[in-house]
Amino acid sequence: QTPSLARTPPMGWNSWNAVGCDVDQKLITDTADAIAANGMKDVGYEYVNIDDCWSLKQRDTQGRLVADPQKFPQGMKWLADYVHDRGLKLGIYGDAGTATCAGYPGSLGHEKADARTFADWGIDYLKYDNCNNEGLPAVDRYRAMGEALAEAGRPILFSICEWGANQPWNWGTSVGGQMWRTTGDITDDWDSVKSIIRKNLTLAEHAGPGHWNDPDMLQVGNGGMSEREYRTHFGMWAMMAAPLLAGTDLAKASDTTMELLLNRELVDVNQDRLGKQADVVAAEGGRYVLAKPLEDGSVALALYNENDYAATISTSAKDAGLPPAEEYTLRDLFTHTEARTTGTLRASVPAHGVVIHRVRPSEAGDTVTPARS
Ligand code: GLA
Repeated sequence: QTPSLARTPPMGWNSWNAVGCDVDQKLITDTADAIAANGMKDVGYEYVNIDDCWSLKQRDTQGRLVADPQKFPQGMKWLADYVHDRGLKLGIYGDAGTATCAGYPGSLGHEKADARTFADWGIDYLKYDNCNNEGLPAVDRYRAMGEALAEAGRPILFSICEWGANQPWNWGTSVGGQMWRTTGDITDDWDSVKSIIRKNLTLAEHAGPGHWNDPDMLQVGNGGMSEREYRTHFGMWAMMAAPLLAGTDLAKASDTTMELLLNRELVDVNQDRLGKQADVVAAEGGRYVLAKPLEDGSVALALYNENDYAATISTSAKDAGLPPAEEYTLRDLFTHTEARTTGTLRASVPAHGVVIHRVRPSEAGDTVTPARS
């Protein structure tokens, strides 16, 4: 595998949370067009990923996977060219078992042929699932595909979709993976997001440039959560250096959804070159203080309240890992306003809410930006 893949958390879009099995060529070309035109490409969204249900149920006479011609009339190579022409990359989905989770052909025993097929098509990203695995050791099955991708002669990002049962954070890098799922599937509701955050926060030490914890794809915009819950979902994924794969139909996305996906200051925190996942500085009664050190010496600091009621959360610049200073400048990454403090950081955080500040020692020229109207 090319060592330069995924130096920062992968960003893009995936079909599953948006449409499930109803994936087709038009959805992918429309999505690529949208990402190129709506500002997403400019803030870093790059991969356009096809999830399950894209192939025929049978391989061809030479044992190769075949894209369903009803769904993808022009074929995958054409589609990859289309996506590449827009300056984006194309991802696809496979499975390390006899069949995918939705019952399409799996790659177990076909790893070399399938990796070659993906490379021939111009695929840039493989999400590799773990259904129907016959109880064979995950590490062996994932290694077989990791090696096949390395031999196929094209840099293809390898996303290990193993839901945490086999602790892929302990072996994902050794089989050539750039990211691995840490939990079961996300659903479009607060309980799902809350429990995924709890689990993923415990795995911070395993994340870094080229190897990321994957708490699953974004549900932002799909309707099952409040605006505040979606802000918390997106903000916490940014703090956790999680891959940011939008999972909503961009043709129908509201202004609020787009504003969140395009929050460049949060994306910058996610994409920071230091590649650190936020550490838990304090956690008590569902009130969390999280700190993500950034390359420029500032710290992204989140006060996160998972409770069903508002709570005051406080910490200090020192506990957040900042150097001693007389005064600190705090930039709120949701309201894009600045304030100053001598060292105590405190906020009343609404139920299911998060307040995220980028904090640095104040400099002589710092001015406090008034709130945007
Ligand atoms: C599994 C994965 C999901 C999705 C589906 C497709 O459940 O975890 O992300 O890819 O399979 O069938």
